[in-house]
Amino acid sequence: MESGTYSYTLIGMSGAGKSTIGKMLAKKTDRFFYDSDSEVVRAAGGMKIPVIFEKYGEKEFRRLEKEILLDLIAKKSNSVISTGGGAMMQTEIAEADFAKTTSIWLKVSESALWERQKHNVAARPMLNAENPRERMQKLLAEREPIFQKADVIIEQDGLSMKEIVELIRTKLNERSPK
Ligand code: S3P
Repeated sequence: MESGTYSYTLIGMSGAGKSTIGKMLAKKTDRFFYDSDSEVVRAAGGMKIPVIFEKYGEKEFRRLEKEILLDLIAKKSNSVISTGGGAMMQTEIAEADFAKTTSIWLKVSESALWERQKHNVAARPMLNAENPRERMQKLLAEREPIFQKADVIIEQDGLSMKEIVELIRTKLNERSPK
């Protein structure tokens, strides 16, 4: 069911289109939209994510990300929440997310993910490595078993953004609300 006050969360790797699709889905389903990365930037006084990583390290970023996502999941209803690509690797976030929201994994093939990210590696601190593609593959392998637990899985290769949103809505309508 699409109606109701529970939230949807979009999960998946960087470059999966979580924010773009999240905004479109929120509009179509008449929900509020929140993006955890944007909320982290806001909480850090406007400091961009690569700068947070550089100045304070990944650990501080993850602390902020956890605080923000647990709060969004607990307090926001009737929303679409887009999560950062590594958020679900924090057990507390994954537990809250799977228990209290309808989670949607935007699944993209490794090659399509790399195509989308290769020109923008500098903006992705997690790909700051000698071989960014290998790093991405490693992250994907670590994260896929968690993403696999999502309530709804969308294989999006070959589909337009509009088709993806329609597919999500169809799959949501087939489910009973949490
Ligand atoms: C990260 C993904 C980013 C952002 C941060 C860490 C990751 O979010 O949260 O750079 O660990 O993969 P997007 O998935 O929105 O790019």
